[in-house]
Amino acid sequence: MAISKLSLFSFRNHEKKEITFSKGITVIWGENGSGKTSLLEAIYILSLGKSFKTHKQSSVIKKGHTSYILKGDFSYGEITNSVAIQTNLNNTKTIKVNGKTIKNRKEIIGKNNVVVLSPEDQVITKGGPKERRLFFDRLFSIVDNDYLNTLQEFNRALKQRNALILNCKQTKGESFLPWEEKLSISAVKLWEIRKKCFSDYLKSLNNVVSEYQKDLILNVLYMEKTYKKEDFEKKLKQTRERDCLLGTTSHGPHRDNIKILWSGKDIREYGSQGEHKISLILLKLAEIHLIKQKTGKNPTILLDDVFAKLDLNRSKKLVSYLNSIKTEEKDPIQTIITTTDVLNVEQSGLILNNKDVKTHKLELSWNI
Ligand SMILES: Nc1ncnc2c1ncn2[C@@H]1O[C@H](COP(=O)(O)OP(=O)(O)OP(=O)(O)O)[C@@H](O)[C@H]1O
Ligand SMILES: [Mg+2]
Repeated sequence: MAISKLSLFSFRNHEKKEITFSKGITVIWGENGSGKTSLLEAIYILSLGKSFKTHKQSSVIKKGHTSYILKGDFSYGEITNSVAIQTNLNNTKTIKVNGKTIKNRKEIIGKNNVVVLSPEDQVITKGGPKERRLFFDRLFSIVDNDYLNTLQEFNRALKQRNALILNCKQTKGESFLPWEEKLSISAVKLWEIRKKCFSDYLKSLNNVVSEYQKDLILNVLYMEKTYKKEDFEKKLKQTRERDCLLGTTSHGPHRDNIKILWSGKDIREYGSQGEHKISLILLKLAEIHLIKQKTGKNPTILLDDVFAKLDLNRSKKLVSYLNSIKTEEKDPIQTIITTTDVLNVEQSGLILNNKDVKTHKLELSWNI
């Protein structure tokens, strides 16, 4: 998969912009604030229907404007699919694929995959379990349709039970029962698929780690607390009173813990800065590997100012790994890189090894 063209209207600091991409490497460079990350964010939104930076869809609309429009052409060999997304200030969103409006965001998920590597993602190793759950939920939703459907069912049931919980005093016990049953069915299914997805992800991670650095030991520990459907229903009933005091459902897959272990130790507690950086790169390379394994296609890789934050040795290692992934046509995997300093990217060796390179310079505009 490769994105060939991106058009933006009233998106972040971009009023109107059109950019074409190489099938290999595209370097987008410009000063701080010139809109580099926003371009990657736009590609990500076209891929997943959501931003990686904010949950508030309307905050990405250019200040003073009432809606944004993004259009992207994604091609596979001879076939090109055009995805367009428009969001208004009141958060209403329209998604079109090849001119036809689609009803559910689900229809674009998993079709044009991207993997972002950005220093902001460091929360995956440094942050709490919520950040890691989000990372894995998104990835597993891309590679497994069943996961996405079950996660959505579970979230719907969870929302309903939480709404009842907030209204505990006025709600009779039996009103909880249908939602607790729905919640239990989807929770058990989600635990099952999640376990399988983690096992596949670990295979990808092991593969990537052994390619990247043989003596390194990196693991993801999924600490699931699984129940049978009937037992989980009982658990929900038992904890209802306490949940009412807490104002939320305290048990379920939405509370699963996931730990990243570096040499067997929890990286959150013991990891050095460098170990966090390497782990993040490896977790993302494993993401690329898993997407390729499951969908048969390489995702587009978006590297947001990554080389400025890595020492030369690590940059070169990353580049040598990326160069080792080839698409079926033996082209390099499509990579879009943002930087304030082209020299950083050149030094990493990425450009030297690839002839098919496009460069765009973004100018800083002050007329916001
Ligand atoms: N809704 C919006 N309307 C107008 N401008 C916005 C909006 N959201 C963000 N901006 C501005 O857009 C600019 C571009 O942000 P972006 O993060 O894309 O820059 P960047 O080139 O990646 O910068 P850096 O090199 O510092 O990472 C910033 O100045 C930001 O304040
Ligand atoms: Mg940026």
